[in-house]
Amino acid sequence: MQDEPIDKEDILKELNDFHKLDYKYSEGRILGSMCTEAHPFAKEVYCKFLDTNLGDPGLFKGTKHIENEVIKSIGNLLSLERAYGNIVTGGTEANLMAIRAARNHARKYKGIKNGEIIIPSSAHFSFKKAADMLNLKIVEAKLDEHYKIDVESVRRAISENTVAIVAIAGTTELGLIDPIEEISKIAQEHNIYFHVDAAFGGFSIPFLKNLGYEVPVFDFSLDGVCSITVDPHKMGLAPIPAGGIIFRKEEYLQVMAVDSPYLTVKTQSTIVGTRLGASSAATYAIMKYFGKNGYSKLVKSLMDNTYFLKEGLENIGYDVVCEPELNIVAFNHPEIEAYELSKKLDELGWKVSVAKCPIAIRIVLMNHIKKRHLEELLEDLEKIY
Ligand SMILES: Cc1ncc(COP(=O)(O)O)c(C=O)c1O
Repeated sequence: MQDEPIDKEDILKELNDFHKLDYKYSEGRILGSMCTEAHPFAKEVYCKFLDTNLGDPGLFKGTKHIENEVIKSIGNLLSLERAYGNIVTGGTEANLMAIRAARNHARKYKGIKNGEIIIPSSAHFSFKKAADMLNLKIVEAKLDEHYKIDVESVRRAISENTVAIVAIAGTTELGLIDPIEEISKIAQEHNIYFHVDAAFGGFSIPFLKNLGYEVPVFDFSLDGVCSITVDPHKMGLAPIPAGGIIFRKEEYLQVMAVDSPYLTVKTQSTIVGTRLGASSAATYAIMKYFGKNGYSKLVKSLMDNTYFLKEGLENIGYDVVCEPELNIVAFNHPEIEAYELSKKLDELGWKVSVAKCPIAIRIVLMNHIKKRHLEELLEDLEKIY
């Protein structure tokens, strides 16, 4: 740090120069991100709550009330009348909280010391971080031929040390929904904690259902589901950071509680201490502003774009890996290898990502990608073909 203060103007200019190096969602070239530009109203509200700290909720009672209301609304959306949980930094922290709750619960009530978690091989890498931090062993369940968790593989993976089973509603790579109803039954049969990672799908599957799309049940209407991750900063159009963790029972928060002597509350269950109230306020605002109908309209337009891209690709001759269930399309050129194709697209300014299972170019049809961007992309893909 320099000794003397610098003028605001000079600092802003310097920062702006760096910011210019960033890709902008509005350019429609970011094709592999699960985040998007937050809604302007949500950003406005976010700024108003920047100084609030939910780590010390006795000082910020109003903002804590907002967080409780958001958790209640998301819970309701997921068929849970009375929900417990928090708005956190994202899917990673939400998954970490779920697995910590499961581990502590199993330790307290079943005496399990060397816990294991069963996750599908399609699970987000946040579970590897969680297992590492919580000293748990990962047991990977296989995928079936449709890239969804193989139910029998889960059954076989269960041991006396299993503390949690995880399934995904909206996989990171392909946007697929695992057979959650079946896994929920298995978890119940064996009395094992069941977590659903709907970080991506949680803000779209309920609306697709309202629109009449055929989507599998994935939420708390299944008795075996103990917790769900749902991220407002992905499909909810809330500003980063906003992840959501929803628990069916308060005891899952209680088993994580540690004493917090110098604060206005006696215990704390979240991983983070000082934490933003702005994320909760912005999520509250955008959920009220959109309502179910607003989100349904948004999700419908994203699915329309998804099918438009899929058909466009097939018309050119590209192989689409699977029928999209949510707004992700994964595809391959019949001859050019995916990493090579991604390089060619990168040279043309398209920022795509490559899925690992199966290896394929993956495009996430978020709100910043408009039809005109897809038309330009298809033109380029046709030239490459
Ligand atoms: C299914 C799923 N879970 C968890 C995460 C992690 O979310 P975050 O990057 O917000 O921590 C992602 C990220 O894309 C995801 O797709």
